[in-house]
Amino acid sequence: MSADPHTRSVAPAWLRRPDDANELVPAVWPTTAARDEDGVLLLGGIPATALRERFGTPLYVVDEDEVRATARRTLDAFRAAAALHGTQARVYYAGKAFLTTEVVRWVTEEGLAVDVCTGGELAVALAAGADPSRLGFHGNNKSVAELERAVEVGIGSIVIDSPIEIERLAAIVERRGVKQSVLIRVNSGVHAETHDFLATAHEDQKFGFTLTDAAAAADRIRELPGLELVGLHCHIGSQIFGTAGFEESAARIVELHAELLQGGELPVLNLGGGFGIAYTSVDDPTPVEQLAVGIADAVARQCEVRGIPMPNLAFEPGRAIVGRAGVTLYEVGTTKPVALDGGLTRLYVSVDGGMSDNARPALYGAQFSARIASRAGEGDPVLSRVVGKHCESGDIVVDAEYLPGDVAPGDLLAVPATGAYCFSLASNYNFVPRPPVVALRGGEARVIVRGETVDDLLARDAGLTTTPTEGIA
Ligand SMILES: Cc1ncc(COP(=O)(O)O)c(C=O)c1O
Repeated sequence: MSADPHTRSVAPAWLRRPDDANELVPAVWPTTAARDEDGVLLLGGIPATALRERFGTPLYVVDEDEVRATARRTLDAFRAAAALHGTQARVYYAGKAFLTTEVVRWVTEEGLAVDVCTGGELAVALAAGADPSRLGFHGNNKSVAELERAVEVGIGSIVIDSPIEIERLAAIVERRGVKQSVLIRVNSGVHAETHDFLATAHEDQKFGFTLTDAAAAADRIRELPGLELVGLHCHIGSQIFGTAGFEESAARIVELHAELLQGGELPVLNLGGGFGIAYTSVDDPTPVEQLAVGIADAVARQCEVRGIPMPNLAFEPGRAIVGRAGVTLYEVGTTKPVALDGGLTRLYVSVDGGMSDNARPALYGAQFSARIASRAGEGDPVLSRVVGKHCESGDIVVDAEYLPGDVAPGDLLAVPATGAYCFSLASNYNFVPRPPVVALRGGEARVIVRGETVDDLLARDAGLTTTPTEGIA
């Protein structure tokens, strides 16, 4: 057995042991994150301790300035990259990542369009005052009612996912006597995740048309007077670093695009979202400017080979717009060293939230990082696992992280990079109310979604014979 205690550690191979377990790795935190002279974490200039006092924990904190700046930077990057090839780019914010009326306003004010994938998400975007003509609608099983509503409000585009949906939508637009722009979702056979991508002839998944079936779908759509085919759509996965997966996918989809051009115009090519962010100190996301140029160049090359004009490009980032802007604050309730085989130990740090406010570790094995936020901790970094309060051993918030050895009950713990797919995937498992969302802007904090109460949860229970909180200690 090795004499070096770190090589015998139960830490995953990728996890770096920091010299200082209070350090804030810049890529993982909002740009404004810092520590004050007492070591307290500042978010948007506000001490995390002040946020706890005012709003309690668990608390979703989102830096509005960061979301706005990222949205603008992303739009600028894709527009500039498209302009290099004499074309245009539209950026849709993928609302599924984190949708509230405020978030819709932030991103639309910064020039983004929005994509929604259910009637509920559409309702949020409309309630926020979004221009329906700048909304896109996705989903593999949109109901008749959802499609009706989308057409009724004049949605910009609907991404068709199946042959049945073509007929379903055609019937609606015919009855209403309107014309609807549509794209065809194509499954390019490229599936990308983080650094790797898989390219197969067929992918065994629920979304879209295969490359082979898409041509027949296009023919059918073009026969229907109420539908206007404006382009192809493809989304190859999530948390993708680099451009290789997009390049492979572009090669395949531009081939189909060229083929379909023979039957009519096809002004748009939507390449979806999936751009990765840093969740831990080892993640090194590709800057959006580089991504944008790489992808636009790849499409341009393919168009040149086939002698076709460059289409207008569209993209749908979600995580990359909001992920880094979010931090979740928890209070530590208990800590417990657990002895493992071989004389090793892991420190379990239990917080007052868990898989109900961040399902990603349980759902995808996602990794996060954490820091004490109420002070600078002391003591050697200790390999820790941050867990929630749910009755589930898979209730893990941060699987592996070095925390200061003196982490203790009452400490405020901050988990960064929780802006995407945490609020939107939250549940009430174990009847835990969902936390409020607080937005930071210009040194001010305000609630943009109030926290749930036990009354909220009991209000849906038709078996109640008492008023909701009666008898609850
Ligand atoms: C069709 C589509 N577009 C965009 C996105 C957004 O992906 P991300 O948040 O990884 O950018 C998704 C995510 O699942 C998606 O399915």
